[in-house]
Amino acid sequence: MTPAYPSPPPSARAQAIAPFLVMQVAKEAAAYAASLPPNAPRMLYLNIGEPDFAAAPAVQAAADAAIRAGLTQYTPALGMDTLRERLSSWYRQRWGLEIPARRIAITAGASGALQLAAMALFDVGDEVLLPDPCYPCNRQILTSLGITATALPTTAATRYQPTAEQLAAAWGARTRGVMLASPANPTGTSIETAALAAALQVVRARGGALVMDEIYLGLTFDARYGQTALALGEDVISVNSFSKYFGMTGWRLGWLVLPEPLVPVVERLAQNHTICASTVAQRAALACFEPEALAEYERRRAEYAARRDAFVPALRALGFAVPLTPDGAFYVWADASPLFRRAGVTDSLGFVRAMMTHAHVVATPSADFGQADGGRFVRFSIATARADLDEAIARLRRWLD
Ligand SMILES: Cc1ncc(COP(=O)(O)O)c(C=O)c1O
Repeated sequence: MTPAYPSPPPSARAQAIAPFLVMQVAKEAAAYAASLPPNAPRMLYLNIGEPDFAAAPAVQAAADAAIRAGLTQYTPALGMDTLRERLSSWYRQRWGLEIPARRIAITAGASGALQLAAMALFDVGDEVLLPDPCYPCNRQILTSLGITATALPTTAATRYQPTAEQLAAAWGARTRGVMLASPANPTGTSIETAALAAALQVVRARGGALVMDEIYLGLTFDARYGQTALALGEDVISVNSFSKYFGMTGWRLGWLVLPEPLVPVVERLAQNHTICASTVAQRAALACFEPEALAEYERRRAEYAARRDAFVPALRALGFAVPLTPDGAFYVWADASPLFRRAGVTDSLGFVRAMMTHAHVVATPSADFGQADGGRFVRFSIATARADLDEAIARLRRWLD
């Protein structure tokens, strides 16, 4: 007789992975929306970390052409040379940096890049330091590989980024690296260049690795912060993606910029783990760098900035505390605790649930991202049409009044 599952039990590493609360809230919101009568005000989803724009038309056409021409075979494990070259040119044009194509590895999204970087750099039992709050998958990818992810509490005073002093104090016998995101999810804030340089010094002095998740780098609104950490040296490892700036979330395409000695290591891992990133997505992404596509992406970046400029003051006027105006990405990290009493709740998870039922507005509670905020914060995504953002503010005002 076939034994009933689970037999054998899941690995301890797999069991250590906490559920992704964002998805739980999204599920609850979908079930709630389905239970509403047809004439109820529709739900406004400000919980999704995904651009409300699709890939540029030239990119869609390039994918179509590749499929029709049957150009869908595997590519080399590090990706198509032409795409690596285009990215190298983009670093030159946009960031004024010489990044040779041979240091670029094309991956299955930033998620694939993070997995490859973690496998290439860290062993089971090693420790990596990250900020609290941070994008939960950054932590969970490490945990699922048997790497200890230690989150260091941060505040608005340091733009929710750990300081060099904090990193130095936390560095232990098994610490092998630091993983930062800039601009970050859920805060939309970047690390100051001087603070990053100091953090890198701490890492270098201890022979560790600095992995920078720069997935939102294209979506920066403030030239003071919008610099790639790659400018600080060839030892920095940068994770990036076509998902956010280029609007290609479901295409599953990203890249890594690596120190040269790590390239063959990542190549071996990629050959074995994925063979290559999606060929259709790679061929389509070549069109991202056409002038008209880049102009479209820049228009979208301006649109996100305009949404931020309207939404953040409106939230503040409602009574949310937004300690820092985001300088990039499409998130607003708002302290809802001044409104807890009015909403009849005691934490941000309760607040999100009450907001969903009373205002039909969905956001993400802080619990997924960390504990440092004491359950007070909510993440709003402004990757939502401006009319919906205005409507969300109007509904919140009616509810809270
Ligand atoms: C900070 C951060 N890193 C990585 C990812 C994963 O992105 P990708 O779609 O490129 O796998 C996300 C997605 O939201 C993110 O916010």
